[in-house]
Amino acid sequence: MKILVAGGAGYIGSHTIVELYKSGHTVVAVDNLYNAKLKSIKNVEKILKRPVPFYKIDCTDKKRLEKVFAKEKLDAVIMFQGYKAVGESVKKPIAYYRNNIDSALTIIELMDKYNVHNIMFSSSATVYGKNAKSPIKEDSDALKLNDITSPYGETKAMIEKILVDKANADKKFKVVLLRYFNPVGAHDSGLIGEDPNGTPNNLMPYIAKVATGKLPYLKVYGDDYKTKDGTGVRDYIHVVDLALGHVAALKCYKNKKKNTFIYNLGTGKGTSVLDLVKAYEKATGRKVKYKIVERRAGDVDRLYCDPKKAKTELGWDAKYDIVDMCRTSYNFEINNK
Ligand code: WQD
Repeated sequence: MKILVAGGAGYIGSHTIVELYKSGHTVVAVDNLYNAKLKSIKNVEKILKRPVPFYKIDCTDKKRLEKVFAKEKLDAVIMFQGYKAVGESVKKPIAYYRNNIDSALTIIELMDKYNVHNIMFSSSATVYGKNAKSPIKEDSDALKLNDITSPYGETKAMIEKILVDKANADKKFKVVLLRYFNPVGAHDSGLIGEDPNGTPNNLMPYIAKVATGKLPYLKVYGDDYKTKDGTGVRDYIHVVDLALGHVAALKCYKNKKKNTFIYNLGTGKGTSVLDLVKAYEKATGRKVKYKIVERRAGDVDRLYCDPKKAKTELGWDAKYDIVDMCRTSYNFEINNK
């Protein structure tokens, strides 16, 4: 299949492009480079030893994006594009709603116009809200509570609803929603990885900066959660496993019986902050200094998935373990000057 990867220069997008090509598909990558670097596409080309068609376009720019749909005979679209910083979204809700919803609607309208019927959406475990009981299944009752804790999460839930409504109205349109838990790690080459602009919000890239001496110590946001060591527990999944989950999910488009598919992409294992620190030190031989500080607003005690549905229906499950995640994260950090 020829697949438009919107947000293709980003962390998950770039790793997914590598695995799509390795599985025999071709890609057209689009990204506005707001939160990504062109270097990522160049490094994907180095890994694949082949050119990757890339357009620097903002997906809310319908006129320019339409040229790509007109020129390229697309079979599917994977939507990674969007602002994704939870804390920032609380401060700038309108920018998040405008960018994330507008870009999604623009893409869906162009798909309609150019008869592209297959879409895959990069959703998030955050749609389950703060009261979801782990291990979380895709049909969790928590979805009805709608106690999502940020505009970022709301945009994910809204785009899911837009896509499901579109699929209900148009049987030709096939929708795959993939709910990521906590993507971490990097490609074994060390050429692509998580490279946030500025100080990282997320735990793993922050630990990577501490382990390489770029930041003095990790602030552990609270040790009074109802978990084995009091620190937050999450379902960390290696970004290459996540990318392979997208490749596996392409088989949904052959399904004639239904046109909406929803999967958790996680390991089903919970790892605490302090577990991750210890695993990082073990995997890299580097010390990770930390201080326990007060909780961060919006954090929950634990969040991990029941990964059974993807295993049964897609034949996919996560293969990398926590040590691989730490080792590859560190390898990228020391290679990525
Ligand atoms: C993990 C754990 C923190 C940083 C968010 C979004 C999710 C997705 C991934 C975008 C928590 C603790 C963190 C630090 C810490 N977003 N922590 N010190 O919040 O589970 O998920 O990012 O794709 O949609 O909700 O990830 O890595 O920020 O936090 O102690 O400096 O690490 O309290 O327990 P989170 P995270």
